[in-house]
Formats: sequence, structure tokens, C-alpha cells
Amino acid sequence: MPSSRATNLDFDASLAEKVQIVNETLQRLLAEQREVPRALREALRYTLSGPGKRIRPALVLWCCELIAGGDNANARIASAALEMVHTYSLVHDDLPAMDDDDLRRGRPTCHKAFDEATAILTGDGLLTLAFEVLADRIDDPALAVRLISELAHAAGPAGMIAGQVADLQAENTAGSLETLEYIHTNKTAKMFRCAARMGALCGGAGPEPLETLGQYGLKIGLGFQIADDILDVSASSEQLGKTAGKDVQAAKCTYPAVVGIETAKELERQLARQAVALLESFAAPAAALRQLAVVLLDRNR
Ligand code: IPE
Ligand code: IPE
Ligand code: MG
Ligand code: MG
Ligand code: MG
Repeated sequence: MPSSRATNLDFDASLAEKVQIVNETLQRLLAEQREVPRALREALRYTLSGPGKRIRPALVLWCCELIAGGDNANARIASAALEMVHTYSLVHDDLPAMDDDDLRRGRPTCHKAFDEATAILTGDGLLTLAFEVLADRIDDPALAVRLISELAHAAGPAGMIAGQVADLQAENTAGSLETLEYIHTNKTAKMFRCAARMGALCGGAGPEPLETLGQYGLKIGLGFQIADDILDVSASSEQLGKTAGKDVQAAKCTYPAVVGIETAKELERQLARQAVALLESFAAPAAALRQLAVVLLDRNR
């Protein structure tokens, strides 16, 4: 998410550093999977190496840094596990039975590059691998269980999956603000809350900062999905690396469709303000998180 504004130089450098850590960790974890059949390994590598923005895993690392003064091996594992679950969700979201998309991260979707069965199984593989690495590689068993629980709740049937079900059910309906908030909170914001909480836990956070950072994650996550809806109607496929205009085509229940672009943008700004306000007690070390809340408002991909 490059930004040309001088004030964002440090933020961009910090994000680039996190992206590199996440990419290296993902590659390492995949390389260590020795017994994966070749065709599946290729599909796993294809999906994990796509140029995703890596915002959620960066959030894990920033939150650990905020609490502990730096990231650590556990946070790196947690960030990679979370990105695996997110990447799986995209592979399945793009399937013909769901959003039926051909383009993802600037390349053919997994089911187009390979085939549908491979895409389903690649998603299954990523989801399972995420929990395997948390169980096997987090060096403190109590922390591992905590992280596994956080991720399972966020991604599971009362989290992301609930949101995805509601998203599909709401196609071709008028929709209400209440329905939208339910869909977006579940399909997207809970994974952002989870990212913040996993990072905070890896840094050794107590209950209060854990709760606050989780609330911050929920706010920026909801804003992030509103921005995704806005970009779908306002940006090009080239910018997005995925086919623009798909939400209107599929008659999705989105913020621009239900409240209009201007109100959607105002809601985004409100959420960013609320997110930044939550960080007050963290003072200067939360600079990256403050900037993240603002930068997500005018992202163009
Ligand atoms: C896309 O997420 C799906 C949404 C929840 C909006 P991202 O916009 O973070 O996608 P990548 O990971 O950068 O490809
Ligand atoms: C996807 O939302 C949310 C999840 C994958 C959980 P979208 O369907 O809006 O995401 P894009 O626009 O395809 O990236
Ligand atoms: Mg979808
Ligand atoms: Mg989609
Ligand atoms: Mg979208």
C-alpha cells in the first residue's frame, strides 16, 4: 500500500519491514512441510506468494511490538498463521459457488490457475496448516492454546464463516445498515480484532491492553471492509488486482449500495477516529497503529 506522502515515509518503511518478515516466515513454514504432494505444494506456494497487502499479519507484529517493545518468534508464527487463514478465505471466497472471481492479487484465482478441486483443497490445507504451526511452533503451550482459541473463534462459524454465509444470503436483497454491520463485522472485522489480540498476547499483554487493542482492531476492520466496498465501485481492476465492479454485478449488500458512497466514507472516517481514540493510553509507541487507521481510509488497493 505505497503512499507518496512524506508524512507516511516511516509508516511505509515499517509496513515494508513487516511484509518482509511475514513473507519470509510463510516461505519458511511451507518449505518445512516435507510430505506435501507436489501438485498441492505448487498451489499452496502460488496462493501464499501472491502480492497480498499483509495488513492483518502486520497488525499482529505491530501490536506485539507495542506491548513488548519488539516483535518475537511467537508473533512471527502467529502472523503467518493468521495470513494463512486469510489467504484460505480468499481462495474459497473466489470459488464459483461463492463470489466466482477470476482475478486475485493481480493473478488468476487459485481455481483458474489450477482447478476447482485443487482450490478447495488448497484452502483446506491452508486453514489446517495455520493451526498446526500454532500448535507446534509457539514456544509456550499456554500461549499456543490461547492463540489457537482466538483464531478459531474469529475464523469459525460464529465469526468469519457466519459473515460469509450472511454475505451470500444478502445478495439480491435491499439490506439494512444493521445487516451490513453484521456481515462486515463477522466476515472481516473479527479477523482484524483477532490479529491485534494475537499480537498483544505474543507480547505478553494483560487483560486491559488486550481488550483495547482488540476494540481498535474491530474498528479498523469494519472500516477496512467499508473501504473494500467503496473501492469495488470506484477503483480499477488493475489497481485492485481483482475484478472491480463485482459487487454491483452480484447484487451484493454493500455500504455504497445501502447508504451511498458519501455516507460510507463518513462512516469510515468515524471508525478511524474512534480507533485512534482507543489508542490514547499507549501514547507515542502506538504511532504506527494510529497511522494505519488513517492510511486505510484512502488506500487505493
Ligand atoms: C480482501 O482482503 C478481503 C477483504 C476482507 C476485504 P485484503 O484487501 O486484505 O486482500 P489482500 O490480502 O491484500 O489480497
Ligand atoms: C471477503 O469479502 C471476505 C472474506 C474473504 C472473508 P469480499 O468478497 O468483499 O472480498 P473481495 O472483494 O473478494 O476481496
Ligand atoms: Mg465475498
Ligand atoms: Mg469476494
Ligand atoms: Mg469486496
